[in-house]
Amino acid sequence: MELVTVRSWDAEIGSDAYGRLEAGNILFYPGVPIEFSEDDRQFLLSQRQTDAPYHKNIAYRPREDSLTGTARGSDAERLRRIMRSFTEQTVRLLTRGLARYAASWRLDYASFRPCEEAGRSLRLHARNDLLHFDAFPTRPTHGDRILRFFVNLNPEKPRVWLTTDPFPELADRFAAAAGLSRRAKRGRSPLARLGRKIGFGRPPYDAIMHRFHNFLKENAEFQRACSKQQWIFPPQSSWLVLTDMVSHAVLSGQMALEQTFIVARRSMLKPELAPAAVLERLIGLPVIWGEK
Ligand SMILES: [Fe+2]
Repeated sequence: MELVTVRSWDAEIGSDAYGRLEAGNILFYPGVPIEFSEDDRQFLLSQRQTDAPYHKNIAYRPREDSLTGTARGSDAERLRRIMRSFTEQTVRLLTRGLARYAASWRLDYASFRPCEEAGRSLRLHARNDLLHFDAFPTRPTHGDRILRFFVNLNPEKPRVWLTTDPFPELADRFAAAAGLSRRAKRGRSPLARLGRKIGFGRPPYDAIMHRFHNFLKENAEFQRACSKQQWIFPPQSSWLVLTDMVSHAVLSGQMALEQTFIVARRSMLKPELAPAAVLERLIGLPVIWGEK
């Protein structure tokens, strides 16, 4: 895996950069291409989040223009205005820089992560310091891709990640142990289909990805022994990752912003690299069908 440096977001990236992103590399930008007033920057850096364990981050939902996870007593209205501006600027920037994806993407949540990641106490499946691929428990993607834009807003501290092998390698190695095939078959049963029609259960692709997310976090031996690469994102830098393809864990860092996009699989330069295509080859069954 490697960092591919993008020097400018003023024009669309080339097919080489799209290809490398889709193959499981990180697009890195050595700066913060989002403007905040100095007052707003200081305000963000002074934020704490609520201690409630069900709020992992401060989350902004652009479609509803709403914010969750703020600490009691903080100026939630101001934070909401800043997050709205962050989302709007990020959308403008990447609509230009990633025009190929912007034609089909769905805007998902943004988050602000004011907690120090080192030493956080979270339940196992919510831990950020364990290697995993992203899968959203409540927002199925139906095989579309999870694209995340991260900003390390911290003026002093880097944000430190670990990665290991990308999705195709780990899916191949652990499909049997994680029961991915069983999950795919179960998702096709008449009972499961009926359940989804009346609002129960996840679509098969999302059920498999969620299972794999949990399997990797539960697997202490894998977490200990797998080969690892460390990535140090400097203060005031930003990066883009398809987090359903790139295994990742956050070891340390504080004060990051993040915007998620769900990008249609058909917009990929290389759709055959997408986890859904990898799973279908591996399992020998369709994992997506018309239930969107
Ligand atoms: Fe993640």
